[in-house]
Amino acid sequence: MTAIAETPTCPGAEPVGDRAPVLPVLGHDTPAPLFDGRRVPYANLDVAASAPALQAVGDRVTRTLPLYASVHRGAGYLSQVSTTLYESARATIGEFVGARPDDLTLLVRHTTDALNLLAGCVPAAADGTPGRVLVLDVEHHANLLPWQRATDATVLTGRGTVAATLEAVRAELAAGTAAGRGYALLAVTGASNVTGETLPVADVVAAAHDAGARVVLDGAQLVPHRRFSLAATGVDYLAFSGHKAYAPFGTGALVGRRDWLDAGTPYLAGGGAVRSVRVDGTDWHDGPARHEAGSPNVLGAVALAAACETLAAVDTVALREHEDALRARLVDGLEAIDGVEVVRLWPDAPDTVGVVTFTVSGWEPGHVAAYLSAEHGIGVRDGRFCAHPLLTRLGYRAGAVRASVGAGTAGEEVERLVAAVAALVADGPRADYAVVDGLWVVVDDPRPVPEGSGLDGLLATAGPGGDEAFACVPD
Ligand SMILES: Cc1ncc(COP(=O)(O)O)c(C=O)c1O
Repeated sequence: MTAIAETPTCPGAEPVGDRAPVLPVLGHDTPAPLFDGRRVPYANLDVAASAPALQAVGDRVTRTLPLYASVHRGAGYLSQVSTTLYESARATIGEFVGARPDDLTLLVRHTTDALNLLAGCVPAAADGTPGRVLVLDVEHHANLLPWQRATDATVLTGRGTVAATLEAVRAELAAGTAAGRGYALLAVTGASNVTGETLPVADVVAAAHDAGARVVLDGAQLVPHRRFSLAATGVDYLAFSGHKAYAPFGTGALVGRRDWLDAGTPYLAGGGAVRSVRVDGTDWHDGPARHEAGSPNVLGAVALAAACETLAAVDTVALREHEDALRARLVDGLEAIDGVEVVRLWPDAPDTVGVVTFTVSGWEPGHVAAYLSAEHGIGVRDGRFCAHPLLTRLGYRAGAVRASVGAGTAGEEVERLVAAVAALVADGPRADYAVVDGLWVVVDDPRPVPEGSGLDGLLATAGPGGDEAFACVPD
């Protein structure tokens, strides 16, 4: 693969340009077209939104596809194979996040699905009113809106430090108890999708449990990057998404305490969730089946289990060191550029995963993101990251730019981003941009996009052909 000619050494911490990905992912080095007709290897720095599939996940799915058949009620041999694969995937996923023996592992679509499901299971208060849920304003909408819709939710404004935030949480929980309206649940992020920062889980759990509340952790940004255990932390429920954990085949999970889930209204009404149906009533299953009506996503479950197995086997120290080094380089490199500001929530955060959100003075976030894509082949996210209350409170109403890294990120991609932002600030963009339908785009963008639902007209994917993969692309 051709080296990127315009990658100079960036200012800031330890250069990371020679760091290879810790785990192989599919699509790494896919050629990306630039506005001027050149091609460069795509730098995927948007893994916090959706991570590319691990090679091991792709391999497992390919091997499983010929075995795929109906699940649970089929007597045929492949139905039995598929059922075994599905149920053992469930066990693997639960084990990966340290499920306790009595916990349930529900296979859902993603974190949003998991948290909506749990919101429907929060027990009502003694007087029959909806159960109370405490949530911080730092949350992704997936960990905010389900509580606001289905429960009696209180949204607490986060404070400038972890210590002050925890103090405010404790005070609000205690106030609920004192008023005879105790909270049933505290819903918190495992790692912020805006800053990557975490709260100390042990303190969060202690605060909730001391007040008689349970804890649900939104693990969407945590689980792909840190080993987490329900049993070890005492967290009651964990929600996460396969597509952020290198298994983009449509399965996520809700894992946690059984009683609420068995007593809650079935999330979906339909086949598979019932023991018997009469015209005048239904006898619902308990256990996972209660909430998993409809035909299960076998391949999604198998893919997520393969990701869990791969992440469980990886050297966690090496993975963490890799992601930390890339993040540190991003932060230092970006902050060394005039007019660049990195968004922070809590200076005393005990840990931070590989997410860095920033603004560039004088440049709209959408313009920066369009420039990075069109002139450098770099994919980042811009906007308000489904965290409108937080971005508004922090003063980033117009949004920001987010770069994120993971096990499949190479150091060269990080160096390229920092150099590209430095070049933007120093020299401005080379292409012409305009806002069309609210989005920044290149004027007369010549880059090919797929024609219809096929791949015709798209670039060849990177493969053993190396540079040839670039050369075979039509201009
Ligand atoms: C912290 C966090 N929670 C929840 C979600 C929602 O995840 P999903 O879209 O997979 O449901 C996201 C997605 O970006 C996230 O970052």
